[in-house]
Amino acid sequence: MSRLIVVSNRVAPITEGKSTAGGLVVGVLDALRETGGIWLGWSGDISGEPSTAPVTETVDNIDFCTIPLTQRDYDRYYRGFSNGVLWPTFHYRIDLSQYNGEDYKGYVEVNQRFAALLATLAQPTDRLWVHDYHLIPLAQACREQGLDNRIGFFLHIPFPSPSVLRTIPRHRELVLALCQYDLVGFQTQGDTQAFVDYATRHLDGVLEGDILQVGERRIRVGSYPIGIHPDQVKTLSKQSARSKQLDALKAGLQHRKLIVSVDRLDYSKGLVQRFDAFDCLLETAPQHRGKVTLVQIAPPSRQDVQGYRQIRRQLESAAGRINGKWTELSWTPIRYMNRSYERSLLMSFFRASQVGLVTPMRDGMNLVAKEYIASQPADDPGVLVLSEFAGAAAEMQDGAIMVNPFDTKAMADGLDLALRMPLQQRKKRYEHLMEVLRANDLSRWRDRFLGDLES
Ligand code: ADP
Ligand code: G6P
Repeated sequence: MSRLIVVSNRVAPITEGKSTAGGLVVGVLDALRETGGIWLGWSGDISGEPSTAPVTETVDNIDFCTIPLTQRDYDRYYRGFSNGVLWPTFHYRIDLSQYNGEDYKGYVEVNQRFAALLATLAQPTDRLWVHDYHLIPLAQACREQGLDNRIGFFLHIPFPSPSVLRTIPRHRELVLALCQYDLVGFQTQGDTQAFVDYATRHLDGVLEGDILQVGERRIRVGSYPIGIHPDQVKTLSKQSARSKQLDALKAGLQHRKLIVSVDRLDYSKGLVQRFDAFDCLLETAPQHRGKVTLVQIAPPSRQDVQGYRQIRRQLESAAGRINGKWTELSWTPIRYMNRSYERSLLMSFFRASQVGLVTPMRDGMNLVAKEYIASQPADDPGVLVLSEFAGAAAEMQDGAIMVNPFDTKAMADGLDLALRMPLQQRKKRYEHLMEVLRANDLSRWRDRFLGDLES
């Protein structure tokens, strides 16, 4: 029987009740729960040896097979090339990219180690589904190991335009490595187009329908926007309705309106610009002073990468400056928290708020935008203010208030509009967005991708 083997750098925490911030883990876990399968990835441990054997644990119907990394792997493959070059470049932050040939070598080596493990694990009929930028060379390494299984790749983050991609010295190798997959999927049509543009301009690729021919390789390409299970999220959002934490949040608000934002603490999420927009709202629309609170939940991420330490300092300073300017004895305008919350609690915060503020400078999709809408009560829904540079904008632009995160005043105006929106309009937007979320849910994402990989 054909099994599904999912491979990603990060896997879901095996310990019950532990929550992780990150769209890949949230999406893949929910998708795999229904189908079952093997999930191969990094254990999160960095005290391994290259020869350390994998550990397998079965939870529900998923076999988690994980290996540790060595400190050197971590430095070169994860911190160095994946998060020091690919992440910033693919998010258009070439100013933060720090290329180093040794890191690239380490990146390829770890991919080869995953491939060697797959060679011992996979049966010929198994389908392999590889996720995200850490594992671009995995299919190539698998082919070198003699595996000729169907292998699909899904990129959770944006794919940059060719001129940006070319700033990575090994761009050609990376794209050729992607061509070793049978199916390469992206979040949006724009990402797919950027990939095809590179292949046609720089590798003499030819696209016919959704088949891209590059040299001898014929691969399928397409966009598969990741979704959520809207009804499950709604149920979750009601589960914590009587929790102490939600009560504490509401008590602190003292009937003020609530704007909520939830993101990993990442420079791609536009956090400083968002705080500035809130400051601008208080400056330009005095009627909101003392009447609205912004709750920003931002668990730290990748703190050993310089760009992340820097954004954390900048955000602390922005929160301090803005709160110093506006705080009154009975009102703190920004509540800024560096921690994770259990999923149902997070969704209950969304449900209790009037505005969801999701304003990344660039984002592959942004699941928070979708979770925010699904958590809303149908009879009194909150409003989503969404960046036009989130992948989610392609599906949600007709129901959200769209803003450009590079324009502080426009974001402040968007917030003002959201805070004042009458119930009828809010309901209309919410109903439309729920239809969109249901039509393109997480099962559809998985089934379309796996169906296309199969055919
Ligand atoms: P990214 O994948 O870049 O982190 P997404 O918005 O696509 O961005 O996905 C983030 C996921 O992590 C969402 O499912 C969100 O609910 C979850 N998440 C984000 N912050 C927290 C947090 N503080 N506590 C728990 N879960 C979080
Ligand atoms: C994004 C990436 C994922 C990654 C997650 C958390 O969602 O697309 O691949 O797992 O961020 O980042 P981390 O570096 O902690 O795995």
